[in-house]
Amino acid sequence: KESGLGAAPYLHLFQDFWCPSYYVQGVNNFQKHFHAKDSDVFVASFPKSGTTWLKALAFVIVNHQRFSSFDHHPLLSSNPHQLVPFPEFILSHDLHDKILSLSNMSEPRVLGTHLPFPSLPESITKSNCKIIYICRNPFDTFVSAWEFFTKMKLVSSPALTFEEAFEKYCNGIMGFGPWWSHMLGYWKESITRPDKILFLKYEDLKEDTAFHVKRIVEFLDSPITQGGDSNAVIENIINVCGFEKMKDLEVNKSGDIDNIAEKKNFFRKGKIGDWINYFSPSMMEKLSKIIEEKLSGSGLSFKVHS
Ligand code: A3P
Repeated sequence: KESGLGAAPYLHLFQDFWCPSYYVQGVNNFQKHFHAKDSDVFVASFPKSGTTWLKALAFVIVNHQRFSSFDHHPLLSSNPHQLVPFPEFILSHDLHDKILSLSNMSEPRVLGTHLPFPSLPESITKSNCKIIYICRNPFDTFVSAWEFFTKMKLVSSPALTFEEAFEKYCNGIMGFGPWWSHMLGYWKESITRPDKILFLKYEDLKEDTAFHVKRIVEFLDSPITQGGDSNAVIENIINVCGFEKMKDLEVNKSGDIDNIAEKKNFFRKGKIGDWINYFSPSMMEKLSKIIEEKLSGSGLSFKVHS
């Protein structure tokens, strides 16, 4: 039992990762009772790495034929976390009803998860469902997590100073961490199974959104690009999921996500390199060394400035 950034008062070391106590039951239920379908699409991520953005993009792409009009798109009235639920969170309570509602979702289902790869239910790793993973440079991830979890309203967050939370993070202690095992687990798997896992970085998605959205479209074998002006469709998808657009909607619309955190906290700055405004030179040096040590030889690296 430890304190650290995460959606719970405590973190428990559970199956080699720091599971927020609030979700232990949900994770157990997810692993035991969830059955993946071959058509499922999972958005997997370490928290605060661009999950909300990728959920929106994946949802719009997968449902392109169902909701071809961008004027009345469900994303304009619902939060991406309502449209793309996290089974490990929703299965915390009312198991029977929630399993039913998950199995009744229209197919292909788009679902989210923060679980590390080795803890995914077997039916996800063994079925033909697809996983899109997003991660972000560990500097901005930490600052985003700090801002998010210290502003959480209903779920109590640990009373840590920025420096204390940083020390914990450097030791891997944050919800669903260590961050390096999370990223490397999916990274290695994406190299051996590129048709199963598409590995994305927040920074790349930010810097050349159209290119990476096309990669997602191709990975999912989505019919978007057949006939018509595919570039115009991609442009519309990017716009409807854009930071400013989603931020405005979030301020105006209400949803379940209120129960977890104030909605606007999911859309803070959306920038690369904001960490520079928070880190002391010694913190920067410390985290740079950890990144070098943990990721060395893996081929995984990050851009930390815009
Ligand atoms: P910042 O806190 O640095 O602003 P997650 O969705 O995994 O919780 O990640 C949240 C981070 O993604 C926040 O980063 C948030 O601003 C950013 N984000 C959310 N929607 C985005 C979008 N449409 N485009 C770019 N960044 C977005």
